[in-house]
Amino acid sequence: MRVLGIETSCDETGVALYDTQAGLLADALYSQISMHAEYGGVVPELASRDHTRKLLPLIEEVLASAQLSRSDLDGIAYTAGPGLVGALMVGAATAHGMARALNIPVLGVHHMEGHLLAPMLEDAPPAFPFVALLVSGGHTQLVEVRGLGQYRLLGESVDDAAGEAFDKTAKMLELDYPGGPAVARLAERGDPTRFRFPRPMTDRPGLDFSFSGLKTHTLITANRLREAGEFDEQGRADIARAFEDAVVDTLVIKCRRALDQTGLKRLVVAGGVSANVRLRERLEQETAKRGAQAFYPRGRFCTDNGAMIAYVGAQRLLAGERDDSTMKAVPRWPLAELMPPAA
Ligand code: KG4
Ligand code: ZN
Repeated sequence: MRVLGIETSCDETGVALYDTQAGLLADALYSQISMHAEYGGVVPELASRDHTRKLLPLIEEVLASAQLSRSDLDGIAYTAGPGLVGALMVGAATAHGMARALNIPVLGVHHMEGHLLAPMLEDAPPAFPFVALLVSGGHTQLVEVRGLGQYRLLGESVDDAAGEAFDKTAKMLELDYPGGPAVARLAERGDPTRFRFPRPMTDRPGLDFSFSGLKTHTLITANRLREAGEFDEQGRADIARAFEDAVVDTLVIKCRRALDQTGLKRLVVAGGVSANVRLRERLEQETAKRGAQAFYPRGRFCTDNGAMIAYVGAQRLLAGERDDSTMKAVPRWPLAELMPPAA
C-alpha cells in the first residue's frame, strides 16, 4: 500500500511517500523557520498561509522524485492534531480533497504518534514493547508503548515542555528562534562547573516533569550576570551549558526510573529535542550500563516531518482504519486516547 503523508501542524510543511512493502520512497520538507524568526516565534496565521502556498508543490516534488503520479496512491494520511488549528486545516482539507478526487481512503493521524513511531523508519527499528520519551516543542512525555495504539502515559510535564524551555532560554540569551539548536551550540563553549542549575522534580518519586522553575532560575542568573557586566559571550555560554546539563540530567533520571518501573529494556527517544547530542550521549551511557538499548529517528526525522505521518497513516490505513467524509483538525488531543486500529 502506497501512502502519501502530509504534516502541517506547526511551522514545517512535510510530505512523504511510504510503501508498506518497500518502505520510505521519498520525502520533502519546507521549513518556515526563517519567516517566523523575525517575530521570535511561530505566528499562526502566517504559518497557515505558508502551508497553503507550499503544500501542493511539495506533493508534486515528492511524487516526481519517486517517479509516481497521483493515481499510484492507495491512501493519504495527514496530521489531524495536536497543533495550530489553522495550520492543521490546510493539511486536512488538502488530504480530504485529494482523497475524494482520487477515490482512495484518507486518515487523520496524531502528530505525537508520528514522533513516537519515527524510529520505525530506521534500519534497526525497536520491537514492542518499549518506553518512549517524547520531547518536542509542545510535549514532554514518558509513555509505555505495547503496540500500535497501545499507549500508557507514565508521566508528563506539568508546565513547559522541554523544547519550549530551550526556546525560552534562547530568548533570554539573545539567540535566534528556534532555540534548541542555538542553545546547544552555545553550550559547547560553556564551562560546566561555573553554575549548577536545579534538576526539577527529581528529588521526589514519580515520572512527571516541570521546567518552568528552571526557566526562572536561568532568567535570574542572566540578570545577575548582566548587572555584574558579565553577560558576555562566555557568560552566556556558561548559562547555556548549565541549562542544557540540567535538562539533560532531568530527562535521563526520569528515563532511568521509567525503565526500572516498567522493567523494559528498550527506550525510544523522539521529537525535536531528541536531536540534542548531549542528551543522546547521556542516554547511550545510561542504557548501556543497564543492558538496555536506545533508539532514535535519524536527525531530520527528529523534528516535524511528513515521513512519520506517512508511516503511522500507512499502518492504520492498512488495518482498515479511515476517516468518514469529515476532515479532522483537533488542536488538543491527548495521546493516551488513541486506540489500536482494530478497536
Ligand atoms: O518536534 P518538533 O519539531 O516540533 C513540535 O512538535 O513541537 O520540536 C521542536 C522543538 C523546539 O522547541 C526546538 O527548540 C527543539 O525541538 N530542538 C532542540 C534541538 N533541536 C530542536 N532542543 C534541544 N537541542 C536540539 N539540538
Ligand atoms: Zn512535532
